[in-house]
Amino acid sequence: MSVRAVEFEPTFEGWQAAARALLREGVPPADVRWRETASGAQPSLIADATAPSSGAVRVPRRFLDLARRAAAAPDPARWQILYETLWRLVHENHDLLNDARDPGVRRLSALAKQESEGEPEGEGAARLVPAGAGLAELRGAAASCTGCDLYRHATQTVFGRGPADARIVLVGEQPGDQEDLKGAPFVGPAGEVFDRALADVGLERERLYVTNAVKHFKFEERGKRRIHQTPRANELAACRPWLDAELAAIKPEILVCLGATAARAIFGAGFRIMKDRGRFAATRWAPRTIATLHPSAVLRGEDPAQEAKLYQMLVEDLRLVATA
Ligand code: URA
Ligand code: SF4
Repeated sequence: MSVRAVEFEPTFEGWQAAARALLREGVPPADVRWRETASGAQPSLIADATAPSSGAVRVPRRFLDLARRAAAAPDPARWQILYETLWRLVHENHDLLNDARDPGVRRLSALAKQESEGEPEGEGAARLVPAGAGLAELRGAAASCTGCDLYRHATQTVFGRGPADARIVLVGEQPGDQEDLKGAPFVGPAGEVFDRALADVGLERERLYVTNAVKHFKFEERGKRRIHQTPRANELAACRPWLDAELAAIKPEILVCLGATAARAIFGAGFRIMKDRGRFAATRWAPRTIATLHPSAVLRGEDPAQEAKLYQMLVEDLRLVATA
């Protein structure tokens, strides 16, 4: 095979257009020499690409996010690294990015990270999530997350807890006061309800992975008390990459959304918890995904009778999970 010199505009879009044409023609990475042209010049391969666009190449969205960031890094080798990764995603392994130890994946994440250094804060966690990382690495990176403003007032990042090979993942909304102080999810009053319900259906907490849609406690100070505030859509969106990365690392068989916030994050904004709870559906995160009441909703019942009823609903749904 002869070596192809590819002239292209050194932007993500310029690289992408050239890479698409190369892929279409089946040119392997080893045969490509990337030559940056002045801004505004036509990428040569696109100019003379006569092949009709034969269906877009399907790559994980995470790759596009990473590639965009890596393209902004100063390293001249980035174009070649990007194309090598793209080639392998298409020809070798669609799930390549989940392999944290793969040297190519590591190089790509390092590039993406270069770009994010010195970026302004508050743009979401996406730039801070190491690609293809395992749980321990994710937890470490999340500890210094500045993806939104919530880290400024909270004590610490409350990352998920549980074994990396958990079959079942449960997602709540956001850490509360106790969780913020202890650094673990569901260890306060809602955690007590949660633990009781798990025990009632025979699920062992040590075997579950438990996390939240948002990793920092949001609160309002009233005297000495810190009152929980519901996260806003922009905070949910900012923190979402952490949840996605946790789920990508674990690949659970069963995913349980605790409460409306988590359920909407997973099933979409139209989800109605009281109407739609207690039914398994396949999602891209787990073949069996289900939603139930948030344990703290049980604590907000109007009277003991209603609390008992709400608690029964939670237990009923968790029993489906325990027996699935
Ligand atoms: N509520 C949640 O949603 N998560 C916690 O970790 C604690 C309370
Ligand atoms: Fe980062 Fe999430 Fe904390 Fe915001 S809430 S700073 S996105 S970990």
